[in-house]
Amino acid sequence: MIKADNLSFTYGKDFKAVDDLSFHIAKGEIVGFAGPNGAGKTTVIKMLTGVLKPASGKAVINGHDIVKDPLAAKMSFAYVADSPDVMLQLTGLEYINFIADIYKIPEDARKKRVKDLAERFGMTDSLMQQMRGYSHGMRQKLMVIAALTHNPPAWILDEPMTGLDPSAAYELKNLMKEHAAAGNSVLFSTHVLEVAEKLCDHILIINHGKDLYQGTVDELQKKHDGKDLEEIFLEITGYKGV
Ligand SMILES: Nc1ncnc2c1ncn2[C@@H]1O[C@H](COP(=O)(O)OP(=O)(O)OP(=O)(O)O)[C@@H](O)[C@H]1O
Ligand SMILES: [Mg+2]
Repeated sequence: MIKADNLSFTYGKDFKAVDDLSFHIAKGEIVGFAGPNGAGKTTVIKMLTGVLKPASGKAVINGHDIVKDPLAAKMSFAYVADSPDVMLQLTGLEYINFIADIYKIPEDARKKRVKDLAERFGMTDSLMQQMRGYSHGMRQKLMVIAALTHNPPAWILDEPMTGLDPSAAYELKNLMKEHAAAGNSVLFSTHVLEVAEKLCDHILIINHGKDLYQGTVDELQKKHDGKDLEEIFLEITGYKGV
């Protein structure tokens, strides 16, 4: 369960990047988080995951308030950040073990899960190499493997599909579906509206930190005379192009 209650965040003195945003992702749901560049998606995700402290409002993950009970909250979600360029001096496997140690994942479960995930993402042969020598997509895949090795009830992924090749994107979409089908909650931000449309129970669209739409793609299309999602997105986010 992932819950945002009236979340707001201000950068500097007065730039309100997130403005009174509330949503709820139940167990078993996949929710796609969309909005133009700079809309506030990453800022929201950073508040949900305890990287940023909300100016007001609260985030609750699986019943744990991220500010009041950060350890319990953090043990109950996996987080893939938007940049995969971290700790590049480590090998892929060293990084995975570093994360798995933090989450106290037992040796046996860890080995099995890493083997399975590495095979699914075609990374088995690269795990012993330093991440400095990885391509962008390989770094992205490694971050996903490291986050998902720890298999908690909520996944929070910031543009996880960026840079993934079609087979890796396909595997990740399947993993998200499997995770939700097993009764867990998945929130992922994306600019690829087709992915959100195909994969998600609900979508959440924001702009200028404010809620523009929450609900199913079907309901949204019904409200907009059956137009396609891209057209509706451009319309409601105020795009003034052709
Ligand atoms: N560290 C920061 N200091 C000041 N302003 C920031 C900072 N980080 C983000 N912002 C501003 O906050 C707003 C929201 O940024 P955010 O990164 O949350 O958007 P986003 O929806 O994730 O965008 P994108 O789709 O490009 O990833 C933007 O106007 C951005 O310029
Ligand atoms: Mg972002």
